[in-house]
Amino acid sequence: MNAVHGSSVAPGLLEIDDLHVAIGGVPILRGVSLQVENGTSLGIVGESGSGKSMTLRAVTRLLPKNATVSGRVTVSGRDVLAMDAAALRRYRRSVGMVFQDPRSAVNPIHPVGSFLLERAKDSNADLRAARERAVATLRRMRISDPEARMAQYPFELSGGLLQRVMIASVLMERPALLLADEPTTALDVTTQADVLALTDELRRESGTAMIFVSHDLDLATAICDRIAVMYGGQVLEEGPAAEIASTPKHPYTRALLASRPDLDRRLPEIRVIDGAPRAASDAGPGCPFASRCPVALDRCAQLPPPATAGDHSVRCHRIAEVDAGILDAELPLRVVAS
Ligand SMILES: Nc1ncnc2c1ncn2[C@@H]1O[C@H](COP(=O)(O)OP(=O)(O)O)[C@@H](O)[C@H]1O
Ligand SMILES: [Mg+2]
Repeated sequence: MNAVHGSSVAPGLLEIDDLHVAIGGVPILRGVSLQVENGTSLGIVGESGSGKSMTLRAVTRLLPKNATVSGRVTVSGRDVLAMDAAALRRYRRSVGMVFQDPRSAVNPIHPVGSFLLERAKDSNADLRAARERAVATLRRMRISDPEARMAQYPFELSGGLLQRVMIASVLMERPALLLADEPTTALDVTTQADVLALTDELRRESGTAMIFVSHDLDLATAICDRIAVMYGGQVLEEGPAAEIASTPKHPYTRALLASRPDLDRRLPEIRVIDGAPRAASDAGPGCPFASRCPVALDRCAQLPPPATAGDHSVRCHRIAEVDAGILDAELPLRVVAS
């Protein structure tokens, strides 16, 4: 045991350190570092193409064959990138995964119950006990008449209901880590909020940590402990969710927050960030947001900005001026309904 730190320094559940992923030689992730502590939730947020899904795929090594990976991914101290096939299979089974389209994860010709029972049996060999457990989990997910639901086919359930069943079935196994990639994006807005609130409740009860991937910063800050903002295959800002919501620092994060539709006022128009999102593959050596940033200087496109130290970390050459409030007139500000 380390004499200085002793046992008080618990390793994080998931540590991603300087992760680079290229596909067919094209850089997709460029130095992603993230941590997730046991039982906590991290939201990964950013526009389409920023590398959110690729980060999750790298965590489970579900990458295309022509991908090259460098850096480190450890889960409970185990090196994921070094696992052999058998260890990788065991590890993947221990991670819960939920995707945008629940219909892609179920077999349409079997009733919902058979899928649930298969999962419940893994940890409970007694069929009756497994059935009770499946029904209890559905009830816990506030799915009415769970016994009848078990006999229904996926096509008989709405998208929201089926996604709730999927999430319930994954959390039933109490995984240490849940990876949820836009799990509610296909659902309508009111259903989204319900499903997420329930997911978070069950996750907390079972001590499951979560990475919640979303393009919606407001949604992510509402349910996650911490937020990482990604753009062009990099993490540009990372910190406690409440701070990211109240004091966003990176110009990109501020643009994301200002561009959201103002739901309070129900304004019809959606303000957007100027310019198109940039893929990591055509970003230069500097900050990937430089070409769209309202306060970019020459060096922003040329030199990679270092990450600031501390609990709320930002990669921006102009962070000192942002912190001093000097750039407020040039930077987007969150629109607050009066
Ligand atoms: N199989 C693939 N082959 C080549 N490029 C890919 C592949 N999958 C994703 N990409 C590229 O990687 C980048 C990041 O994609 P992704 O992680 O899916 O973004 P996000 O989930 O943030 O929308 C995008 O530019 C995308 O075009
Ligand atoms: Mg994605």
